[in-house]
Amino acid sequence: MERTFVMAKPDAVSRGLVGKIISTFEARGMKLVSLKVMTPTEEIAADHYAEHKGKGFYPGLISFLTSGPVVPMVFEGKSAISVGRQIIGATRDPAPGSLRGTYAESIDHNVVHGSDAPESAKREMGIWFPEL
Ligand code: PPS
Repeated sequence: MERTFVMAKPDAVSRGLVGKIISTFEARGMKLVSLKVMTPTEEIAADHYAEHKGKGFYPGLISFLTSGPVVPMVFEGKSAISVGRQIIGATRDPAPGSLRGTYAESIDHNVVHGSDAPESAKREMGIWFPEL
């Protein structure tokens, strides 16, 4: 069993898509391990997106993530990281039927984040769920 970090972004919360995100993961056999609702601070957003610091879209990325409540989650299951990426869809040209393919309005307002590798899953779970 593997764990992955998933986050419903502010647009998902404001558009009422959190339940859809959770039920889509559950329908694929993923078990919800932990979840919280919070408006991220600048510090936590900067930590989460540290790899993008210096890119042109970084300031907008931080202001979007801190603009309202998000729902960070941990899911557990077989190959949870790659299955999670499939469920969510790619950043660019997400597959039709994926969460982003269905709901994303743009590359930045794209509803949901998911860890892309074991190292990032561990790092992101440590940022959002230090208690786990
Ligand atoms: S990249 O191009 O390799 O840096 O893309 P990626 O690592 O997949 O994720 C980039 C995250 O930044 C968000 N974002 C943007 N990406 C690219 N271009 C623009 N203009 C942009 N604006 C915001 C994008 O939604 C990814 O967020 P997460 O939460 O990681 O999916």
